[in-house]
Amino acid sequence: MQTVELPGGERVPALGQGTWYMGERSADTSREVNALRLGVDLGMTLIDTAEMYADGGAERIVAQAVSGIRDKVFIVSKVLPRNASRAGVQSACERSLKRMKTDHIDLYLLHWRGGHPLAETVAGFEALKTAGKIRYWGVSNFDTDDMLEVQGTACSANQVLYHPASRGIEFDLLPWCVRHGIPVMAYSPLGHHVRKTLASPALLSVAKRHGATAAQVAVAWSIRSGNVISIPKAADPAHVRENAGAAALTLTADDLATIDATHRPPSRKVSLDLL
Ligand SMILES: NC(=O)c1ccc[n+]([C@@H]2O[C@H](COP(=O)([O-])OP(=O)(O)OC[C@H]3O[C@@H](n4cnc5c(N)ncnc54)[C@H](OP(=O)(O)O)[C@@H]3O)[C@@H](O)[C@H]2O)c1
Repeated sequence: MQTVELPGGERVPALGQGTWYMGERSADTSREVNALRLGVDLGMTLIDTAEMYADGGAERIVAQAVSGIRDKVFIVSKVLPRNASRAGVQSACERSLKRMKTDHIDLYLLHWRGGHPLAETVAGFEALKTAGKIRYWGVSNFDTDDMLEVQGTACSANQVLYHPASRGIEFDLLPWCVRHGIPVMAYSPLGHHVRKTLASPALLSVAKRHGATAAQVAVAWSIRSGNVISIPKAADPAHVRENAGAAALTLTADDLATIDATHRPPSRKVSLDLL
């Protein structure tokens, strides 16, 4: 498994697992828990969740998935902007810890920018770090101008939408984050509406060259730079296996050119795409 360096030198797997839409239906609980555990066994030991997903339900799934193996897993969770006051982040974090039955979150992100002043949120995050309740903090859905406001702080990641059909971050946000040693986390690396991604002739033709699948090409593409952590979500065990297999897929210059010809890299600044 490739790894990505966090500020401070700790390395985390370049390939993790998402949890959006997990925890919505109790009938799916064991399937979702088993999918995450399978992913951990296959090396995808970073799990991304959020208090927003299924109103805390996804964090409860994470609790079951990491039970007995907490030390092996790097947990990322996110606070909703409406809870991101100095005091609000602390109570939201306590609730998340309780739901996940753990005493710390490895990386705690502001889900997107809201009405609370960023300085207050950062102060709340720092207090949580001092108390040992989180190990790192970061942001999500921040464009380059937002990142300028956290420059010089301990911000340790920016989680943004990134897949072959949405690659505007390559123009300035990704280079900015690389220059400042802040890893980017690629969310929805399969495009969220996965059918469209899997039907991409460019991805399919690269997949054919490698005896791989279009999903594996999309995931391998997202982590190709060494600065990006990708978090595909899969509740289907076959999908989990496939995604984990993407770690072994190295795309060649020809493969990248094939993808570029259809999914063109940005030639100018475009505002950050969100889901
Ligand atoms: N920070 C943010 O604002 C933000 C926004 C969106 C997402 N996220 C995070 O990023 C994670 C991933 O994004 P996402 O869930 O939006 O979308 P995604 O990972 O791009 O796609 C998930 C969909 O792809 C399917 N899938 C997974 N692996 C597959 C494979 N190998 N072949 C075919 N289909 C496959 C899944 O089906 P099954 O589940 O049936 O396997 C699911 O329907 C989220 O779960 C969440 O943790 C963060």
